[in-house]
Amino acid sequence: MNTKIKILSIETSCDETGVSVVEYDTVTQTYEVLADTLNSQIEMHKEFGGVFPTVAKREHGNNLLGLLNVCLKKIETGDELDIEEKNIHMELLNREKELTEHVQNFPIQKIPNIDYIAVTRGPGLEPALWVGVSFAKFLSVLWQKPLVPVNHMEGHISSVLMGAGTLSFPNLALLISGGHTELVDIHAWGKYHIVGKTRDDAVGEAYDKVARILGLSYPGGPLIAAKAQKVRDTMAEWDIQANKEKHNIKLPRPMLHSKDMDLSFSGLKTAVLYMVRDLGTVSEEVIDLICHEFENSVAEVLVSKLEFANKAGDRAYKNLIVAGGVISNDFLKARIDAWCQKNEIRFLKPEKSLATDNAVMIALAAIVGITNNYAKIILPESEEFSELKPDGDWSVNTI
Ligand code: KG4
Ligand code: ZN
Repeated sequence: MNTKIKILSIETSCDETGVSVVEYDTVTQTYEVLADTLNSQIEMHKEFGGVFPTVAKREHGNNLLGLLNVCLKKIETGDELDIEEKNIHMELLNREKELTEHVQNFPIQKIPNIDYIAVTRGPGLEPALWVGVSFAKFLSVLWQKPLVPVNHMEGHISSVLMGAGTLSFPNLALLISGGHTELVDIHAWGKYHIVGKTRDDAVGEAYDKVARILGLSYPGGPLIAAKAQKVRDTMAEWDIQANKEKHNIKLPRPMLHSKDMDLSFSGLKTAVLYMVRDLGTVSEEVIDLICHEFENSVAEVLVSKLEFANKAGDRAYKNLIVAGGVISNDFLKARIDAWCQKNEIRFLKPEKSLATDNAVMIALAAIVGITNNYAKIILPESEEFSELKPDGDWSVNTI
């Protein structure tokens, strides 16, 4: 009996194109990344100050086949592929001009030795998601492999599994990315309850918008983080406070005392906008101090919401899972880590390479869904197959 599950996964929800192959050993319950590729379009979107959907779609179409080929070279292939078959299924790529052109010269002649194809179904930018979904459908019929559609946020949650072993429950997840800020109560795999979320901007979005106000480029998160860190590295705490007072740099802590788990970041961004307007010309030092104050506000708000979530329910959380691009931030990570230690909750975060969008986390979420019997497994040419399209719903049981 084969005790291993091998998944080829595709991620195209935003501005990263990813293809990977992950193998799960059901006996040892361990994951192995057999191949992993990622192409970031960040440089292309910089001039727009954010992700431009039509450019994202075009670039996913240009990148996917090349990334797939890199992955296929790293894994075993099996039977020869009938080239005529390829032409029959090209219509599945009809909406994808770039991908169709690349696939016309499809050099793959063998069927890879995989069990499933997992693909991000949403949430994300719809034109970008369509590229991955169309390609996954095409490969699914071509190779006669079942498809597993995956929710992107479940992917972020599953990103912590690499190296974490099996998890006990209940767990709390804090998802902080460019498009999402959510607190999720997880009482078993596949049982998700969103207990709090942002009422307006996501944390990553706030970082990116504040960066734009301060004249920094996209994506703003790492740039603001570096400036805030510079302040911590070069000034003593009393010095930082004195300098902030001198320049009147004080930002709100939105919804800190709201007595619920909801968050809001658009007011914080607007406060930065007014502050910059009132200050007139801002020096490098003042920009650094604003970044420091902004990051302190984000950290305080996030930690206070964790505190509230932990006290609110009747659950004794075993693990706190924090995932999404913003957890690349070392300062936020340290603050959350300290909170976890104080509350004796295990802090699970993804490895650095799995923090921002990637295909490995999509494979991990598919494996969790398959092994816990809640994944939607779609056979090629079934009715569900022809109806499959981008969709932001969670797999099951989201309240
Ligand atoms: O999860 P992700 O790669 O894409 C989405 O699904 O949104 O997250 C991207 C977001 C961006 O807003 C980016 O500015 C933010 O993560 N980010 C950071 C850091 N690195 C990336 N935010 C704060 N500090 C960082 N070091
Ligand atoms: Zn993401």
